[in-house]
Amino acid sequence: MSLFKKYLSDSETLFKNETALDPNFTPKKIQFRESENEYIVTCIKPLFQNRYGKNLIIYGPPGIGKTLACIKIKEELEETTDDILVFYINLWKKNTQYKIILELCAQLDYKFIQNKSADELFQIIKSKINQKSTVFILDEIDKADSLEILYSLMEDIYKKTLILITNDKNFIYKLDPRLKSRLLPDNLEFKPYSQIEIQKILKNRIELAFHVGVFPNNNLNIVTTKTYESADIRKGLFLLRESGLIAESQSLKQISSKHIEEALAKLETSNKPLNLDIDEKKIFKIISSNPDRTTQEIFNLYQKEGNKSERTFQRKLKTLEKANLIELESMNIQGRHYKIKLRNSKSKDF
Ligand SMILES: Nc1ncnc2c1ncn2[C@@H]1O[C@H](COP(=O)(O)OP(=O)(O)OP(=O)(O)O)[C@@H](O)[C@H]1O
Ligand SMILES: [Mg+2]
Repeated sequence: MSLFKKYLSDSETLFKNETALDPNFTPKKIQFRESENEYIVTCIKPLFQNRYGKNLIIYGPPGIGKTLACIKIKEELEETTDDILVFYINLWKKNTQYKIILELCAQLDYKFIQNKSADELFQIIKSKINQKSTVFILDEIDKADSLEILYSLMEDIYKKTLILITNDKNFIYKLDPRLKSRLLPDNLEFKPYSQIEIQKILKNRIELAFHVGVFPNNNLNIVTTKTYESADIRKGLFLLRESGLIAESQSLKQISSKHIEEALAKLETSNKPLNLDIDEKKIFKIISSNPDRTTQEIFNLYQKEGNKSERTFQRKLKTLEKANLIELESMNIQGRHYKIKLRNSKSKDF
């Protein structure tokens, strides 16, 4: 008990609000995305006049505020009007038509889902949704197992805006022409922040997260530089939080550059693929010795070794992609045909 005593009182922690460093924290104000926000609003605007909204594909690399911008739009819409429904679904997590429909039910607060098929449920929620205008924000759209839901939404929901978020700038070109001609989406690119913008975003988080004087200004440069190298703001948030925890564990009142270096070392270690399971390691090895093959070709090699079902294979493949070890360059989204590319820096560590 005495071991923990000094951390129990408020005065002993370096953090004023540790949550402000959580990647899922939504800051009150989003800086440097004014024109992107305007663009999104323009697509939704017709819904306010009970007209058809415009569909939009938002694309750009990881950690540059695409999800944040859309979450903020959702919050503001919900504060502004009751006439427009807003759904946000991450298709990495809800990757099948059925899971997506269940999620729509949950967000509509519709609970009578037992013993009903996906089709039956969709018919029910369709009539509820069509009583209003609707914005569907479908995040990580390229991670969905199938895009069937898009057909259903396009065909059966009247007044709507679909916002599809992806890292893949070529997503639109890979869509089935029938879907493309139904969606007719606008494209909005989110570009990485400049170094100065990253610095200002992180400074703002430091002010929210730490007590005054805990994070000396001169340490901000190294965190900014490291974040800028990857463009991913999450990296900066991790370094801030981790260096704070390290300083705190040493009962120090200020974060030094040494703590940031330790946090950086931790980040490098956690990026190594040490915690892959046996199948993931096996698949990764096959991919490493057979670069630039298609998913089908890799699956055939994997099966030759007496391995599991295609479903398991697909799941493991996505884990490798999420761990940034490989890149799935899709050739045809509907058929789930991908070329598998190795991400160089990571594969060396393996
Ligand atoms: N302009 C900004 N102001 C404040 N925080 C920001 C800003 N842009 C991004 N962030 C923060 O950076 C982190 C990553 O942002 P977000 O999750 O929106 O990235 P993303 O572009 O959706 O990435 P991914 O493609 O990996 O999903 C979040 O914690 C978010 O709050
Ligand atoms: Mg995102």
